[in-house]
Amino acid sequence: MSKKKVLITGNLGYIGSVLTNYLSDDYDIVGLDIGYFQNCKIQKIRNKKKFKQTIKDIDKIKKKDLKNIETIIHLASLSNDPLGEINKKLTIRTNHHSTVKLARLSKQCGIKRFIYVSTQSLYGVSKNNNYLKEDAKKSPVTTYAITKYDAEKKIFKLADDNFKILIFRPATVFGPSPRFRSDIILNNFVGSAVTSKKIRIFSDGKPWRPILHIDDMCKILVKSLKIDISKKINGTAINLGVRGGNYTVKKLANLVKQTLPGTEIVYEKNPSKDQRTYKVSFEKLYKIFGNKIIIKNNVVKQIKELAKFMKKNKFSYKIFTSHKTNRIIRLKKIFNEI
Ligand SMILES: NC(=O)c1ccc[n+]([C@@H]2O[C@H](COP(=O)([O-])OP(=O)(O)OC[C@H]3O[C@@H](n4cnc5c(N)ncnc54)[C@H](O)[C@@H]3O)[C@@H](O)[C@H]2O)c1
Repeated sequence: MSKKKVLITGNLGYIGSVLTNYLSDDYDIVGLDIGYFQNCKIQKIRNKKKFKQTIKDIDKIKKKDLKNIETIIHLASLSNDPLGEINKKLTIRTNHHSTVKLARLSKQCGIKRFIYVSTQSLYGVSKNNNYLKEDAKKSPVTTYAITKYDAEKKIFKLADDNFKILIFRPATVFGPSPRFRSDIILNNFVGSAVTSKKIRIFSDGKPWRPILHIDDMCKILVKSLKIDISKKINGTAINLGVRGGNYTVKKLANLVKQTLPGTEIVYEKNPSKDQRTYKVSFEKLYKIFGNKIIIKNNVVKQIKELAKFMKKNKFSYKIFTSHKTNRIIRLKKIFNEI
């Protein structure tokens, strides 16, 4: 029996580069990516199985690209809050308009399942100290968060019995990937500690930032292709993260300092414009996917593993601060060249 065909958009990014190996045993994968970070690797890519790779803008996807595809995991995006401000127009086009266009085309083409990866950034600056459930007030403050939320609102409406939709809102992901990112919180702290023995904090350390290991993220995505999407959850959003996985920035920095001895924490005088803070509830995730869905819930161990991964791959301060792992530097370089 032939395997089900899954299209992963954004498969040449941080998460996508790990996800393909999680899926390749059970699915026939097609990867589609514009290729912004194609050559930004800190480790040789070892794909368990070969798969078809298309280098294309999601905005240009045509019906023929979706032929025989059963499911789409939509990761492609100008991804993260500061990065979305470099080229606002392109961020709005990619994260909102092209994303909704792809969802609509997918429905027209008879695709059965559409997994849209959104973000918890849409909770923005939460004044609420309770754990935010999926229906909590949204206060997106960045172009990235606004565009992801705008897309969500339109994609929700497309769900029906023939076109099943799940919208995931992951916590900030961390952990090893051949296309590593040093511009997201825990990766940044560990990378900085490993390469300069310093962690730099651009706030008072009080903002809440839930985190999720990349392997858990991928396992949830794999499971989302297998579960029955009942009427109750079809077209709804699910926060992705770990019970106990809500940390303040300060707590995360201290955990890295304790785990990697000799690390100094520096509070920078110029605060970042990024004022996001949100504490998130993951009860819906556990209810749908079961208690065993999270496999790695030991941050200290994960920090050690990440530091080991960096040392093994000769991760230097130069790489930490270069376009290879920092998306803002990479995209500024690309946009200036266009
Ligand atoms: N990494 C996190 O912490 C995190 C947290 C929450 C949500 N997410 C979401 O998960 C998804 C994947 O995140 P990531 O960390 O792997 O991001 P990433 O930036 O590493 O990868 C995104 C990929 O999308 C591609 N892309 C961008 N514009 C495109 C276009 N127009 N057409 C085709 N491809 C395009 C890029 O080339 C890149 O390979 C994103 O949608 C992001 O918003 C990530």
